[in-house]
Amino acid sequence: MDSAKSIIRARMKKSREDYFKSLSETARVNLNREIGKNILSLVPAHTCGSVAGFWPMSSEPDIRSVLETLTLQGCKALLPVTQGAGSPLSFRVWKPGDQLRENSFKTMEPLSRSPLHDPEVILVPLLAFDGRGHRLGYGAGHYDRTLSQLQKRKLNVLTIGVAFEIQRVNELPMSSYDQPLSWVVTEKKVYKFI
Ligand SMILES: Nc1ncnc2c1ncn2[C@@H]1O[C@H](COP(=O)(O)OP(=O)(O)O)[C@@H](O)[C@H]1O
Ligand SMILES: [Mg+2]
Repeated sequence: MDSAKSIIRARMKKSREDYFKSLSETARVNLNREIGKNILSLVPAHTCGSVAGFWPMSSEPDIRSVLETLTLQGCKALLPVTQGAGSPLSFRVWKPGDQLRENSFKTMEPLSRSPLHDPEVILVPLLAFDGRGHRLGYGAGHYDRTLSQLQKRKLNVLTIGVAFEIQRVNELPMSSYDQPLSWVVTEKKVYKFI
């Protein structure tokens, strides 16, 4: 199972990188804008309390303007904080202009003075998703662990995968600990899995 996932992971990482490199700056801006619109159609400001996003890494969609919009509309935007290899993520409040630091996983996270907060919605980065809402991440299982821990705490969290349409595949191998997504948003479509 792990080797099947690794093969798809390597292939999808390369195809997202090649795709991203092939895009002009204008095309990237347009794609991010369409993805952003679709996210905001799912998370209207008046219903949102706290939404965790992610700071874009390499060829990921850039949803920073969505986080800014939600913040301006009175929602709490959060960013994940990585505790270590085998730990679930925790989340800290992020406000536009806040200083961030790079952690050992190369992701940008708020400083420890930003308050910790539980998310009601999590925008999840991914390498691939399939027609059942299954997700392939970067291979550390961070979001699987995080979602399983939130469920144990009886917290009801809506998960929205954020991807380019080219990251969709027919079917992904699924392990017992893999947590399916509630929705996936791309520049073309909003996929509902719940
Ligand atoms: N809830 C969990 N508890 C303990 N280990 C977990 C849990 N979820 C995932 N893992 C571990 O994380 C590793 C990576 O998970 P995987 O699904 O391959 O990565 P990703 O979700 O990032 O694509 C797995 O080998 C698994 O052992
Ligand atoms: Mg997984």
